[in-house]
Amino acid sequence: MLYFKSYKRSLTLVKNLQKQIENEAQNDSPPHQKREKIISFLKNKFDFQQSHLRPAAPSNNGILSKCQEYDAPDQARELGIYPYFRKIEGARGAHVAIDGRWVITVSTNDYLGLTRDPRVIASAQEALEKFGAGCTGSRFLNGTLSLHKELEDELSSFLGREDTIVMSTGFQANQGTIACLLGRKDVAFSDRENHASIYEGCAVAPGKTIRYRHNDMDHLEYCLKKFKDVPGKLIITDSVFSMSGDIANLPGIVKLAHDYSACVLVDEAHGLGVIGEGGRGVTDHYDLTREIDIYVGTFSKSLGSIGGFVSAGSKVIDYIRHKASAFIFTAALPPASVAGVSAALDVLMSEPERIERLHENTAYVKKGLFELGFQVNNNSVPIVPLKIGDETLTLFLNQLLFEEGIFAGVAVSPVVPPFNAMIRTSYTASHTPEDLDCILAAFSKLGRQLGVIPA
Ligand SMILES: Cc1ncc(COP(=O)(O)O)c(C=O)c1O
Repeated sequence: MLYFKSYKRSLTLVKNLQKQIENEAQNDSPPHQKREKIISFLKNKFDFQQSHLRPAAPSNNGILSKCQEYDAPDQARELGIYPYFRKIEGARGAHVAIDGRWVITVSTNDYLGLTRDPRVIASAQEALEKFGAGCTGSRFLNGTLSLHKELEDELSSFLGREDTIVMSTGFQANQGTIACLLGRKDVAFSDRENHASIYEGCAVAPGKTIRYRHNDMDHLEYCLKKFKDVPGKLIITDSVFSMSGDIANLPGIVKLAHDYSACVLVDEAHGLGVIGEGGRGVTDHYDLTREIDIYVGTFSKSLGSIGGFVSAGSKVIDYIRHKASAFIFTAALPPASVAGVSAALDVLMSEPERIERLHENTAYVKKGLFELGFQVNNNSVPIVPLKIGDETLTLFLNQLLFEEGIFAGVAVSPVVPPFNAMIRTSYTASHTPEDLDCILAAFSKLGRQLGVIPA
């Protein structure tokens, strides 16, 4: 009830804003002028850049003064455009219940719709009954179950790797692996759009990290050349970039790795279950399984659960198993999650039509958005960011979408560079043609209203 009240309040606030904007921005002005007017109107009320990225210097009243003085979230709440921590009260298909009503989600990583698959749930329930709710400790000492080992073997055989370790999150898989491999004299070359877990791994490792320009092979080569005499070199890339939906140029990376004697770590968080033969990822798509030294993945996207893994040669895995702090000093992935992932992997292997449906849905929605005037990536990645630019305008559009029954995500700085804010949408095998048409209709209506696409 409380949520419903807060939703009603934010609805009223945004409706008022919308009215004022209609008066402010003449509808017959060209889209870019209209958009600029709306942005300056919104910025008078809440300047995201100013409040979030450059808040007033905290007074010198101790370590917590920065918290007391940081009011960007409150300002966004005041305007009714705060987008985070929405409480999901129920879920079915590609729909979620929020504030007492059902909306279509385009803010999900459940690409194959396996999170609520009856077989996945049954397998998780069985493991819960048999082993209990947790593992009572770290994998290292007392938390390894037969279930962990079985899942590791299944993953190794699915991906054609010698060995695998299952970790408690994908974040830890990246962070722990990189932090323990990158020694003091080593150098990592990391794409600038890589996931935060890769940044963290590089940041805590004793070795040096060079960030190369996104997917730019010339720049990567320039960086590698500078360190050609260093024996320990590791190139690290997401296979599918989580914000832009770009696919990494793995053939280019592998060639440079060969030329400069570097190893390659690929994070297949968004490639697994989506791209490549049977969903084996971008590594498989380019037929580079043998050339990629380390394959990191997560269970929190296509496999519908939580957890992560690292697959590689058996000596490499054994080293990580005994050295990665993020693996050793944390509790093991719980039984229900492990068993759920095993069942999800079985479904992935036995029902390739799910991936086909995912690709059909992705192609349909990308074509629709492109025809409306949005820029979209010409690939089969179901992550479709819609670049809006200004942060406040993006938050406003996101709230209007929500009122049209579409639950999307926003990416604002520092997740993306300043003035590159976007509505991040993602699609699944569970979206129906009707869902996709509703989504396109909402983008068409609101995109025009805000001057984001041509009228
Ligand atoms: C590219 C990438 N790598 C790693 C992760 C971390 O995965 P997890 O959520 O399973 O910890 C994510 C999650 O957002 C991701 O997008």
